[in-house]
Amino acid sequence: MIIEFADRRPPGDYALVLPVAGNDRRAFDSLGDARQSVEAALTRQRFDGESASVAEHFVADNGSARRLLIVGTGGGKPADSAEKLGGAVAARLLKSGEREAVIDLSGLGYDADSACRVGLAAAMRGWSYDRYRTRLKDKQKPTLDKVTIIGAAVAGQRWDERWKPVLDGIALTRELVTEPANIIYPESFAERCQGLTDHGVEVEVLDGEAMRQLGMGALLGVAQGSIRDPRLLIMRWNGGKEGDAPLALLGKGVTFDSGGISIKPAQGMEAMKWDMGGAGAVAGAMLALAMRKAKANVVGLCGLVENMPSGTAQRPGDVVTSMSGQTVEVINTDAEGRLVLADMLTYAQRTYKPKTVVDLATLTGSIIVGLGHEFAGLFTPDDGLASELLEASKASGDRLWRMPLAESFDRLIDSPIADMKNVGPREGGAITAAQFIQRFVENGVRWAHLDIAGMVWADKPGTTYDKGATGFGVRLIDQFVETVAER
Ligand code: BES
Ligand code: MN
Ligand code: ZN
Repeated sequence: MIIEFADRRPPGDYALVLPVAGNDRRAFDSLGDARQSVEAALTRQRFDGESASVAEHFVADNGSARRLLIVGTGGGKPADSAEKLGGAVAARLLKSGEREAVIDLSGLGYDADSACRVGLAAAMRGWSYDRYRTRLKDKQKPTLDKVTIIGAAVAGQRWDERWKPVLDGIALTRELVTEPANIIYPESFAERCQGLTDHGVEVEVLDGEAMRQLGMGALLGVAQGSIRDPRLLIMRWNGGKEGDAPLALLGKGVTFDSGGISIKPAQGMEAMKWDMGGAGAVAGAMLALAMRKAKANVVGLCGLVENMPSGTAQRPGDVVTSMSGQTVEVINTDAEGRLVLADMLTYAQRTYKPKTVVDLATLTGSIIVGLGHEFAGLFTPDDGLASELLEASKASGDRLWRMPLAESFDRLIDSPIADMKNVGPREGGAITAAQFIQRFVENGVRWAHLDIAGMVWADKPGTTYDKGATGFGVRLIDQFVETVAER
């Protein structure tokens, strides 16, 4: 979807969108003769201006008819209702037959960023991936392909420089997450990210043999049941001062998680194509940061493996040696994400000496039991890093909730035969998973783990997404980099 900014309403066919803040009807001054009937129709529809509520009309327009959308903003600050407004417009018009919407923000006090967020939300909500839907009826096809925002003309440049990159990053993430596992597997995931080099990102890919030489026994143990060779995808963006320690972003990229020998039940297993949502978010965030030329040094790593049962798969009870030298008893081959992250963490710390490491992973079902699909779990022993991430969370809309870490949880993953086991008891499963990762964090490194299992995929539409891939994490990371790493 194209997002444009203009200083007056264009000529031609389009749906006109007038946001209305509660009972403030000043926006209707521009309606001329139609005003009276529109106001009467609003009353009949019991329209009260509540945020994201929509009333629809057609008004006579030079012998033709123009669709008019009245959208409530709830009357709060523009910044707080911008995304609901954009999302509601896109949801309503997407398959309506209209090709263009003009949203008139005149007189409503939207600054450039708030106006951009209207456009961002509209484009996010309008995104869909129809590559494999070859028999769509005309009525099922999206029609809306352009949103023009007026009344905030200075926003055009801001959009191109600051927000369009975020949209493109989210689109990359969603594409990677949506693609099925026969199309996106470790090798093809890395190939799809080669395009980042066009934006100045240095891309490097390690294959299974390279990882074997590095001693990544934990990651390779997960990969060994699959005919797909694993990959470690490394993307470097050096927009900061030369020599400044980078921020490292680590994404769990299990391109399909069958559970391995500890196989998952058939019901719902298809969802495990998106067990690479952390890696997808890291790739999308790297694209966004590069496109907007973020003034920060960031390295993004995607640990890409397929977790499959086979004659070569690792067994419950196997002991593997991680790159850190620590040994792990693999009690359950379905607790594979932490094994992948462990070696990624060691590699990232040794190679890039990062100041801060943030990992994103669809790590546990347990976090969904705790936080549902409303918040991702944030785990970090560092209060400063926690508040930085929570602040980025609030500003971006990608919601985080802090969870605990404690010695008493850590003890639950001690093993009688190795340094640790890869699962604890069922209770507190998301926490013991985080404790496991923490055992691979080196002294002096600021580390946070985000368990995003409940956030990557939506079973029902939301403000900024349809059913399916949400792109969770891209905006969070983008915002975190802007407020913390770019200072
Ligand atoms: N990828 C899953 C976690 C998951 C579950 C993500 C549902 C999204 C939706 C992860 O690898 C896993 O299987 N975790 C197990 C761990 C258990 C075996 C200790 C889980 O959460 O059940
Ligand atoms: Mn698993
Ligand atoms: Zn998994």
